[in-house]
Amino acid sequence: ATTLGASAAEKGRYFGAAIAAGRLGDSTYTRLLTTEFTSVTPENEMKWDATEPQQGRFSFTNGDRILNQGLSNGSKVRGHALLWHAQQPGWAQSLSGSALRNAAINHVTQVAGHYKGKIYAWDVVNEAFADGGSGGRRDSNLQRTGNDWIEAAFRAARAADPAAKLCYNDYNTDGINAKSTGIYTMVRDFKARGVPIDCVGFQSHLGTGIDSSYQANLQRFADLGVDVQITELDVQQGGNQANIYATVTRACLAVARCTGITVWGIRDSDSWRDDNPLLFDGGGNKKAAYTSVLNAL
Ligand code: XIL
Repeated sequence: ATTLGASAAEKGRYFGAAIAAGRLGDSTYTRLLTTEFTSVTPENEMKWDATEPQQGRFSFTNGDRILNQGLSNGSKVRGHALLWHAQQPGWAQSLSGSALRNAAINHVTQVAGHYKGKIYAWDVVNEAFADGGSGGRRDSNLQRTGNDWIEAAFRAARAADPAAKLCYNDYNTDGINAKSTGIYTMVRDFKARGVPIDCVGFQSHLGTGIDSSYQANLQRFADLGVDVQITELDVQQGGNQANIYATVTRACLAVARCTGITVWGIRDSDSWRDDNPLLFDGGGNKKAAYTSVLNAL
């Protein structure tokens, strides 16, 4: 096939992009979006600060724009992210203890409930593990409410939207390392105890190299009985960008339970990074990395 989405579909996968509501009026952007991609993720619009700017007052206008853009194009919609230490509204940042725990669970219930039946997969919890060699949790206001906050969030999400796949999502998990092993141990424990979890997202914000255990790491999670997804792929330009994109694509295709790939933006000018990490240049032209992915699919 001649597009990313159609080629991925031939392999039973989706190929998605993170999109921003504020760019949907840009005709080049929406042309690339609707032509090439079969899944969308809101880059910011479903985060806590966006959806609950004041406690108990929910704002879904921009999240709904992303949802409707995706659904009207026949795409999957990945929900991102119910709970995260970053991009919390100020009111939540100032809470702690049971007040924060109750607010967080209410947030999960209300947001997942608003989108009930519409979301393919939710990043229920984002980036809860620490970098470095500890393999443990990241310190955060949510973590300080008790180590069981993650399973409480997953149980609330399942109750609110039983049809959505529920994912744990993180970065620096691009191979078998202490951080990915900490997450692996949590997922194994959740599966053993019946805590609802369906998928693990590997953000894959990459530099000039890729860990040789990238595929093996995806496979070990899949072997626990969860789907795996590449959720926020972008790769520094100037190294081996095209080859690294192809390596990630081939790794997903080689793992039966890798259900799809999402790139974190469309054109380099849309990226949160300044190192031209995406598949289209600022003019909307296909880069070598684009051709490399298409050929790998
Ligand atoms: C980024 C967005 O791309 C930026 O627009 C925003 O200013 C900060 O967040 N990990 C995640 C994403 O899970 O939500 C982040 O998105 C990038 C890192």
